[in-house]
Amino acid sequence: MADTKSAKLVLNDQSYDLPILTPTIGPEVLDIRKLYGQADVFTYDPGFTSTASCDSTITFIDGDKGELWYRGYPIEQLAAKSHYLEVCYLLLYGELPDADQLKDFESRVTHHTMVHEQMNNFFRGFRRDAHPMATMVGVVGAMSAFYHDSTDIADPWQREVAAIRLIAKLPTIAAMAYKYSIGQPFVYPQNELDYASNFLHMCFSVPAAKYTVDPALARAMDRIFTLHADHEQNASTSTVRLAGSSGANPFACIAAGIACLWGPAHGGANQAALEMLKEIGTVDRIPEYIARAKDKNDPFKLMGFGHRVYKNFDPRAKVMKESADEVLDLLGIHNNPTLQVAKELEKIALEDEYFIEKKLYPNVDFYSGIILSAMGFPTSMFTPIFALSRTVGWIAQWKEMIGDPQNKIGRPRQLYVGSNKRDYVDVAKR
Ligand code: ACO
Repeated sequence: MADTKSAKLVLNDQSYDLPILTPTIGPEVLDIRKLYGQADVFTYDPGFTSTASCDSTITFIDGDKGELWYRGYPIEQLAAKSHYLEVCYLLLYGELPDADQLKDFESRVTHHTMVHEQMNNFFRGFRRDAHPMATMVGVVGAMSAFYHDSTDIADPWQREVAAIRLIAKLPTIAAMAYKYSIGQPFVYPQNELDYASNFLHMCFSVPAAKYTVDPALARAMDRIFTLHADHEQNASTSTVRLAGSSGANPFACIAAGIACLWGPAHGGANQAALEMLKEIGTVDRIPEYIARAKDKNDPFKLMGFGHRVYKNFDPRAKVMKESADEVLDLLGIHNNPTLQVAKELEKIALEDEYFIEKKLYPNVDFYSGIILSAMGFPTSMFTPIFALSRTVGWIAQWKEMIGDPQNKIGRPRQLYVGSNKRDYVDVAKR
C-alpha cells in the first residue's frame, strides 16, 4: 500500500493531513490513526459502516457490483470448480494448492476429525433441548481445556495445529450437538469419506442401519460450506479478531465468533428465514407480511432479505438458488408449501417498490435454509452449519492478525453522553 496521497481536515482553524491508503481494489481509506494525538478528536462511526479495522489479503467484496472473491478468485468459480477443503487451503495459505499440497492438507485435516473422548461428557451436561449453537459455544470454548499444546499463540506451529484442529473438529462437534439434541448416539467420523460426506454421515447415520451418503447431496453440502467460508470483516469475524487481539487462545476466539454468529441479524437469519416462511404458511398470507415489513411501527423484517454490504445482489445467493433448485429436483420436492411461499415471496419482494428502493434482495440465508431443510436438517441446525463453514474464515483472519506486526489490542473509543462529574449522595438523602 502506498500512502503518497493525503486529505486535509480543517478543525478549529488548524489543518491536519490525513494520509490516504490505496487498496488493491475498492474505496481508498483515510488513515486517522494519528488524528487523536494531533487534534484531540475521535471519529464517530457506530456499527462501523465506514471504518476499516485492519488490512487484509483474504477476501474482497464489492457490494455494489455483487462480487465476492476469496484471495482474488470469484466465488462463482470456486463454487463451480473447487471444493471446500481446497478453499480452506486457499483461505489459510493464500494460494491454491498443487496436488501434493492438497493431499497433505486433506490428510492433516482428516487425522484431526475425532474429538477427545472425554469431551462427550460436556455434551451430556447440557439439556437435550438446548439449542445446538448454545452447545457449540460451550464445547468449542472448552477445546482450550483439552488441547493445551496448541494454545500458545506466539508459536507459529501451535497456531497452525489449532487451525487444523478447528477445521477438522467443528463438523464433528456440530454433528454431536445435533445427535445429542435428538437423543441418538454420537457417530464417529469416517476418515475415508470426504469432508461434506463425513458430516452428513455423522448427522444422519445410526448404528442400527447402513447409511450411504448421496454424492449429489454431499456436493450441495460442500457448496454450502464453500459459500459461507469467509466474508471479510463481518460481525462474527470482527468479534474473533477483537477477542484475539487481547492474546486470547484460538479456541476461545472461535467460541466468541460462534456466539456472535448466532444472532438473527447475522448467521441466525437462516433459521429465522425458514421459520418465517413456515409462519407465513400459505401464499395468500404473503401480502400481510410484506405490509408488516414496510410498516415503520412494526419491528418485523423479512428474514433472509437485505445485507449491510450487498446493495445489488448477494452473489452467494445466486449460486445457492441454483443449488436449491438442483437439490429439490433431486429429492423430488416440488409442491412443498414452504417452498411455494419462498418462491412467491421472492417474486413479490423483488417487484415491490419498497424493496427495490431500499435495495433489499434475498441473501444467502434465504436459500440455504431451503436446501438444508430439504436435506432433513431441523432449523436449529442451520446456524451450526454456518458456524462450521465459517470457522476456516475466522481462523484465517485470526492467523493473519496474529502474524501482522501492526497488531494491537482492539480498543474503540466512544462519544460519552452520560452525566457530568457529580458527588455521591448518601442513600438516606436521595
Ligand atoms: N425487511 C424489511 N425492511 C428491511 C429489511 C428487511 N429484511 N432489511 C432492511 N430493511 C429496511 C430497514 O428497515 C431500513 O429502512 P429505513 O431506511 O426506512 O429505516 C433500510 O431497509 C436499511 O436497513 P438497515 O437495517 O439500516 O440496514 P443494515 O445494513 O443495518 O442491515 C441487515 C442489514 C441486518 C442484514 C438487515 O437487512 C436485516 O436485518 N435483514 C434481515 C436479517 C437477515 O436476513 N440477515 C442475514 C444477513 S446475511 C448474513 O449474515 C449471512
